[in-house]
Amino acid sequence: MIHPTPSPRSPRRATVKKSARGPRPETQTPTTPRPSTRTSTPSITALREEAAHCRACPLYKNATQTVFGAGRATARIVFVGEQPGDREDLAGKPFVGPAGQLLDRALERAGVDRAATYVTNAVKHFKFEPRGKRRIHKKPNEQEVSICSHQWLDQELHAIEPELIVALGATAARAVFGKATAIGKNRGHIISKPTLGTDIAADVLVTVHPSYLLRVPDEDRAAAFEQFVDDLKLARKYAPADS
Ligand code: URA
Repeated sequence: MIHPTPSPRSPRRATVKKSARGPRPETQTPTTPRPSTRTSTPSITALREEAAHCRACPLYKNATQTVFGAGRATARIVFVGEQPGDREDLAGKPFVGPAGQLLDRALERAGVDRAATYVTNAVKHFKFEPRGKRRIHKKPNEQEVSICSHQWLDQELHAIEPELIVALGATAARAVFGKATAIGKNRGHIISKPTLGTDIAADVLVTVHPSYLLRVPDEDRAAAFEQFVDDLKLARKYAPADS
């Protein structure tokens, strides 16, 4: 078994097509995408087993388990979220809690079969703050996102080689592009094979994180959901529900 190196790495930089550029990256380290350091690509099953022992950052200490990606290892679409939530941490599976149920409803409406896709997160351990008996979600910081996405997301993408990556929210977009990427400006269109944080070629669709929809005011929620569904419809041509 190959254990991950627990040393933080420098954040990746990516060049996004001009039309799709978000705000200026927060770091000014111009590099080409980091190539995989492996000589062969491990399978998703091998990566999942390896990731179960991940100690690359301190988040493993309080989490129940690593929540690795799930779905079809030959998927044409990979969805990337932020990090597992409370329910996912307990179940060991991504997007099974309230945000996942909302994602499922939106995918069904958009005509995308989740079972034909692969769903994962930028960060593989639940980060939270205990409050009484509750565990309150805490956003992963830049270093945690950078370490975890280099360690695991890059390898998942190499193993699957999807045609489309859907970044759900800002943390996912940061992990996919390797730099801060505005959601409002970049959502809702296919970005054709931008340079990513890792050296694979795939189209990218940026949209909101489903948990954002759980937080919008009641009067705006239906419209926000429709917009999310419209974004996801763009993924349909990569893997229609009847494929
Ligand atoms: N939010 C995420 O980003 N990922 C999950 O798996 C669940 C909630």
